[in-house]
Amino acid sequence: FRILFVTPEIADFVKVGGLGDVSSALPRALASRHDVRILIPAYREMIASDHEIEILGKLPGHAEIPACELGKITCSDGLVIYLLVCPELFEREGNPYCDETGIGWEDNDIRFARLSLAAAQLASGRAGLDWQPELLHLNDWTCGLAAGYLHWWGIEVPSIFTIHNLAYQGLYDMSRCQALGVPASAFNMHEVEYFGQLSFMKAGLVYGSHITTVSATYAREITTPQFGCGLNGLLDQRAAKGELSGIPNGIDDSWDPRTDTHLAQAFAMNDWRGKRANAEHVRRLFGLGVSSGPLFAVVSRLVHQKGLDLTIGAAESIVRAGGQIVFIGRGEMPVEKALRNLAARFPGAIGVNIGFDEGEARCMYAGSDFLLMPSRFEPCGLSQMYAQRFGSLPIAHRTGGLADTIEDGVTGFLFDEMTLESYIHAIQRAITVFRATDLFYAMRRAAMAGRYHWRQSIEPYSQLYRTVVRGSETPHA
Ligand code: ADP
Ligand code: GLC
Repeated sequence: FRILFVTPEIADFVKVGGLGDVSSALPRALASRHDVRILIPAYREMIASDHEIEILGKLPGHAEIPACELGKITCSDGLVIYLLVCPELFEREGNPYCDETGIGWEDNDIRFARLSLAAAQLASGRAGLDWQPELLHLNDWTCGLAAGYLHWWGIEVPSIFTIHNLAYQGLYDMSRCQALGVPASAFNMHEVEYFGQLSFMKAGLVYGSHITTVSATYAREITTPQFGCGLNGLLDQRAAKGELSGIPNGIDDSWDPRTDTHLAQAFAMNDWRGKRANAEHVRRLFGLGVSSGPLFAVVSRLVHQKGLDLTIGAAESIVRAGGQIVFIGRGEMPVEKALRNLAARFPGAIGVNIGFDEGEARCMYAGSDFLLMPSRFEPCGLSQMYAQRFGSLPIAHRTGGLADTIEDGVTGFLFDEMTLESYIHAIQRAITVFRATDLFYAMRRAAMAGRYHWRQSIEPYSQLYRTVVRGSETPHA
């Protein structure tokens, strides 16, 4: 099939979190079976890259959404990326969603309506391209309106809407409907209205032909009030009709400690000396003292979801037990500040890098003994899979994808209650295992042998594509 994979980030150029990794890896994993192409805004990183951008034509505007150009990049491995070239919306300092101080762009509604509109235009054949998708694969709220435009224009190209994180919904004042080309008639609780506001996410959930999310556990969790962010009723209804599935993310071949060129030293299973060389490198990088105690790592967006308050609360007991912690992350200002304070309180034992650095993150997975990930919720989570592949045992809250990809006491440690007590108990279990060297190495081996590769997700996605495209071919009664 011809599939247009629509996304706001791709690790090849711009990555904020796991969606960037997924957008880079999943279309490539599917390439042997389908013609999957990407659609993404042309951020300054793309414009500044060495890739030649071929301009294919113009895409008209709609309501207050400006016209733009459509460009194309072909990656060296053949992946085709269509670019929305619209400098006034996308060529800015900062990331796809926020400015450099972490404040969301004020015109995000127009920016991502522009992305959604382009997807719908390509699907409708109105873009004048010689390639027309048979299916749109939409990712998160930024693409939600695409399913809406198709529906409102009566275009029967099916779509799959994947939830990577239900907590970010793209909510805007209802007065914005007109500017975004959302018909007034769609503003009701069964369509795009969310408690008086316009919800991009809800457009994807209501009009998408099928909904997926990125783990089986999260697929169940989001049908409950606790995790459903007010959308659980709708999700439950779609689940009852068999229209909500959980397909886990995987990791690609670039995450391999035997070949990763970012590391201080490549290593394979059982080469614990090689792993130690990375630990020493990380300790130096973060200005920590020489130590034979356990090294804990945190690689995370610094947001409420990730439970950093718990890790900050547990830090003293880790240090008291002879452990050290390194953090890399960027996000909410108060969390950044709290981490800086923590590092100041425990010099030589706690190191903090407020920033984003792919190479350093990889060294941290390789050098650490444990990864701390007490997320309040976690749709899938990739960090815990990377950590396992690099021989670092995750200590994580039993929720979402963490529950599905960590075997408690085998490849990592899970705790049940989102409380400091429950978390510290898991950390203490981990430290006890660290001291029982044979058991610790056995767990490391089990973690490194993990089977969370994208290969596993090809068949379920492929089947779903088939069902959704075929389903849309059946004439409507
Ligand atoms: P989420 O998408 O919620 O942020 P995931 O675990 O799915 O969580 O993915 C996070 C991805 O972002 C991983 O690839 C992780 O290594 C990376 N990452 C997060 N923070 C940083 C950082 N500060 N520097 C480098 N990589 C980071
Ligand atoms: C989101 C989720 C994370 C998931 C990622 C990729 O950012 O928070 O759990 O792994 O998307 O699907």
